[in-house]
Amino acid sequence: MKKLVIFLIFLLCISGCTKKEETETIVKEETENVIEEEDADDFKVLVICFSLKGEQYNVGVIDEGNTYIVSLMIADHFDADYVLIQPNKEYPDTYKELTEVAKEEQNENARPTYWNPIPDPQSYDLIFIGAPVWWGDWPMIMYTVFENNDFSGKTLVPFCTHEGSGLSGFDKKLQDACPDSTVLKGLAIRGSDAQNKRDDTKKVVEDFLKESGY
Ligand SMILES: Cc1cc2nc3c(=O)[nH]c(=O)nc-3n(C[C@H](O)[C@H](O)[C@H](O)COP(=O)(O)O)c2cc1C
Repeated sequence: MKKLVIFLIFLLCISGCTKKEETETIVKEETENVIEEEDADDFKVLVICFSLKGEQYNVGVIDEGNTYIVSLMIADHFDADYVLIQPNKEYPDTYKELTEVAKEEQNENARPTYWNPIPDPQSYDLIFIGAPVWWGDWPMIMYTVFENNDFSGKTLVPFCTHEGSGLSGFDKKLQDACPDSTVLKGLAIRGSDAQNKRDDTKKVVEDFLKESGY
């Protein structure tokens, strides 16, 4: 009889322990799910863009810059914070003159300034940075942006519009300018497509974001 009582107590202990462990596991899983959901809500995206209106190659005079159009599609996708770089100097609104000014800036390795504030990159989980290709490179004003803001430890996605030369090494150049950041695969779209084929462009943007895991 004594042995039977001891055996029964042993059985009760085992079942009690198992239940406690199961409950702890369920509580832990639920807590992890809540944290994941909170993380998803807290995932903050910033889009930084430089883009000009006026006369542009292949599209005539435009009142919305080509890169600007793409940048808004990206920002809409994430409901992101957004900043359009506003230069202190006025760039020519004719294409030929603009190419000359841009060439001069590049030859001088200039750092043109902008007047509007950029939110602190450190507050964001993911940052898209876009501009038109100018003479095979980022417009020089973007190097001012790279150097005057703290992108260290941040994940950056470059994007551009162009008229034939594609991404033009935007990713490598961005990585060189921001060596402590992680630069992901970039997106290149033809400016005239962004301007004139917006539905197609939207699909390209969405496909790119999907492929990139967003
Ligand atoms: C100064 C200047 C230089 C350019 N250089 C290139 C180039 O090297 N390769 C290219 O494919 N397109 C080049 N383009 C075309 C632009 O990248 C293209 O028109 C872009 O979509 C303009 O974008 P935005 O309207 O956002 O400023 C250049 C345009 C300008 C104004």
